Amino acid sequence: MKKDTAMRLSALAGQVAPEGIDPWVLHWQARHAHAAGEDVLVLSAGDPDLDTPTPVVEKAIERLRARDTHYTETAGRPLLRAAIARSHAARTGQAVTAENVIFLGGAQNGLFVASLLLAGPGDEIIAIDPMYVTYPATIQACGATLVRSPAPASGNFHPDFAALEAAITPRTRAIFLASPNNPTGVVLGDGEVEQLGEIARRRGLWIVSDEVYAGLAAGGRVPSLGARLPEQVLTVSSLSKTHAMTGWRAGWIVGPASFVSAANDVAACMLYGLPGFVQEAAITALEIAGEAERAMREYCQRRRDLMYAGLAGIAGLRPCLPDAGMFMLADIRDSGLSGGQFVRGLYDAERVSVLDGAVFGRTTEGFVRLCFAMEEREVNEACARIRRFCARG
Ligand SMILES: Cc1ncc(COP(=O)(O)O)c(C=O)c1O
Repeated sequence: MKKDTAMRLSALAGQVAPEGIDPWVLHWQARHAHAAGEDVLVLSAGDPDLDTPTPVVEKAIERLRARDTHYTETAGRPLLRAAIARSHAARTGQAVTAENVIFLGGAQNGLFVASLLLAGPGDEIIAIDPMYVTYPATIQACGATLVRSPAPASGNFHPDFAALEAAITPRTRAIFLASPNNPTGVVLGDGEVEQLGEIARRRGLWIVSDEVYAGLAAGGRVPSLGARLPEQVLTVSSLSKTHAMTGWRAGWIVGPASFVSAANDVAACMLYGLPGFVQEAAITALEIAGEAERAMREYCQRRRDLMYAGLAGIAGLRPCLPDAGMFMLADIRDSGLSGGQFVRGLYDAERVSVLDGAVFGRTTEGFVRLCFAMEEREVNEACARIRRFCARG
């Protein structure tokens, strides 16, 4: 038997390793094939096919030339934190100041910091299933156990509150959720947010409300948990989706000042500050947010409607109209294929990459997720190829 000479890693390595199939393998295969000039359509990731707004790029270049390339304040520059606070207050109605804000490396970094600070080994964190693919590892990174609470397909992917209450134990520390949700595009209504806030208040739980797609919801806003329960809610967001700025890694948490102070200590030993030119460009992005978000909303809504029409009437496939965001689920349970078979078969036959719904949770098994934030021509072409694939049976 071959001796394993690899040195031992900590428990964390196991806690963050992907469960089952790695959803990104086919995605990167498609991306590389596309980059090599192959006729591939990549619908597997949520990265808008638009450029970062020019004033934001110009600001970053200006600040780079001005040698804004040194260390910065760990929690983010005061002017940026104040700008995020103003933007959050205007969107949600929650009264916050710079003291309630920490700037981090994208919403993903915010989710990770939240996990580290809210729970630990022996604790449980509930997440609404389906959830963004990074959630299980992010939640388990702190040593806590992930407990899935369903938002079932039979209820149009809205949370089942009886199941949520039943999932809470004395070990539960927090509930993680996203509105608009990825992959379903569901926006929680006022009544649901009220109910969630009431449960969290009564049971003494944190809520981590991931609102990276809020700017893409109708009117650029969603009912706010933070405004209802400011002492127990962390709102996580970023510029990634609303401004086509996924590569800038510009995100934040808004929460109680005591939480922000602890997050600052984590950031000090993890990030030690983020680039000044990115922060200055982020201030510009927030200044033009109204216009940028409106443009992105219109861009997404138009393509959502195109895709929904383009996938209508395909035997074995039923598109689900999302409230907001840049993704559409399609129910493929009548196709006779599993999600994995559908995704692989579609790519091999038609060179269209999509994601198996199963990677988002138990509730989306038998569904696939398609991103529509791309040129209209590509949306139409993807729908035509999917139709052809399904027609083959
Ligand atoms: C629901 C959700 N949360 C967080 C993220 C990560 O966003 P960011 O680029 O700001 O880290 C994504 C990215 O797809 C997402 O869909």
